[in-house]
Amino acid sequence: MADAIRLSGINRQFGQLKANDNVSLSVRAGSIHGLVGENGAGKSTLSNILYGLLRPDSGTIEIDGKVVVFTSARQAIEAGIGMVHQHFMLVPTLTVTENIILGRERSRFTLPFKRLEQEIRELGVRHGLEIDPCALVSTLSVGEQQRVEILKLLYRQARILILDEPTAVLSPPETVKLFATLRSLAAEGRTILLITHKLDEVLAVSDSVSVMRKGALVGTIPTASATKEELARMMVGRNVLLKIDNPQQVPGRPVLCIERLDYVAADGSRKLHELGLKVHEGEIYGIAGVEGNGQSELLSLLWGTFDRHATVGGSITLGGHPMLGMSPAAIAGLGVSMIPEDRLKSAIVPEYGIEENLIFGRHRERGFHRGIGFDHDKIHRNAGVMIDRYDIRCSSGDNPAIASLSGGNQQKIVLAREMERPGLKLLVLAQPTRGVDIGAIELIHRRIIDARRNGLAILLISSELEEVISLSTRIGCLYKGSIRHEFNEDAVRRGREEASGLENEIGLHIT
Ligand SMILES: Nc1ncnc2c1ncn2[C@@H]1O[C@H](COP(=O)(O)OP(=O)(O)OP(=O)(O)O)[C@@H](O)[C@H]1O
Ligand SMILES: [Mg+2]
Repeated sequence: MADAIRLSGINRQFGQLKANDNVSLSVRAGSIHGLVGENGAGKSTLSNILYGLLRPDSGTIEIDGKVVVFTSARQAIEAGIGMVHQHFMLVPTLTVTENIILGRERSRFTLPFKRLEQEIRELGVRHGLEIDPCALVSTLSVGEQQRVEILKLLYRQARILILDEPTAVLSPPETVKLFATLRSLAAEGRTILLITHKLDEVLAVSDSVSVMRKGALVGTIPTASATKEELARMMVGRNVLLKIDNPQQVPGRPVLCIERLDYVAADGSRKLHELGLKVHEGEIYGIAGVEGNGQSELLSLLWGTFDRHATVGGSITLGGHPMLGMSPAAIAGLGVSMIPEDRLKSAIVPEYGIEENLIFGRHRERGFHRGIGFDHDKIHRNAGVMIDRYDIRCSSGDNPAIASLSGGNQQKIVLAREMERPGLKLLVLAQPTRGVDIGAIELIHRRIIDARRNGLAILLISSELEEVISLSTRIGCLYKGSIRHEFNEDAVRRGREEASGLENEIGLHIT
């Protein structure tokens, strides 16, 4: 079949930084094309150019054999291109139907809503993207929001679909379902450009795959002849250890004790039920589970951000001190750091610079002050050290806004800040490597294990089973608000070293 997309010699610079460096890439109509590369390699930039959100400095775009020049996303949409962004773009206070038709229908008053809702319901059923068209988007799970994003493209009759990290927020069963949908869309002749960091997934679903590094295209290969190791090497430019060294050690005193924790939401639904666990010094306690089984509520209690209309019972103590109900600042003051699930919402200020974001929430620390004001030299030096230690990739300019960093590099900023908090006793990590590339995962995992070896107590909450198994000392299976089963150190170590089928065993306890 002919090429649906042909990009030739695309260049795009931000200041001195070449985000896209002479990129040429073709995608056959009716195929799924994977696009992989390190954080900051230029994948989102390239797809934003294809979608008309960014203008290339030079180069041409051909769609179905015709040269096009887009000056806005509207023109790209008219040419049959649709995009689901790395961060969703839905309006939470509107319904599914309203979100889908948003920007397409001119006047709200003339809309035949009942008919549109029916149409959207049917469209969903036809493509395996079932959704209640009348539901408010704010009440949907991330997996359901994703369905809305894709339905929006199908409703606009997009023939070329760009998906920027669509599975970063999905549970494994949701991912399987999404891939089945993508396959059937491709079989109908639609063309899909799939950006992801999960190499297993690219290998499972795509027909061909392109690798980018530092703005340039390293190569395009048929998926059938690709391996995970080779893709990783093409991405990073060196061999990547897909397994990290995680030596055992005897855990110390208990740091975090959670006993009989209950959480009943304001609407009466029970989110946590007599949840109990302990995390010791020098231990990583991993919580495995499908999202929506109480993870968010547990995190909100640990961090002091829970809904005060909820009914809460039980206790949380840190080194014997009760901390349930304290404010986030007071909890941080006890020596607790947290990497939240949603970094954009709660962990960074996008329009501030890297330097400010690296001390955000730690700005009262003595080390960053001189007299009664900030010591800007020290804050500047701190940023330099962190950029080095956490391999944060940013344009070399003077303290660029964090919004200009690629998604994975924003995550590294949050990790650096929280892991380096002085006097740290407990580190709570929620999805610490979401959206992070394979080389950076290796680095972050090493930092986490080093911190544990230095005696830190770590609570890890991740929907990536592989991550939970490779890092944890013990694993608790969270299901419907309780720890349903715990795997002890021996079981976890064996699972890691002997491929004992631990993944499947955990699977049985979390579904
Ligand atoms: N608006 C902008 N201003 C300045 N620099 C930018 C801007 N947008 C992107 N960049 C830079 O361009 C480079 C490529 O970024 P891009 O977002 O395309 O990476 P990516 O491959 O999508 O990475 P990730 O996997 O982390 O999402 C990065 O170094 C980023 O900092
Ligand atoms: Mg990106």
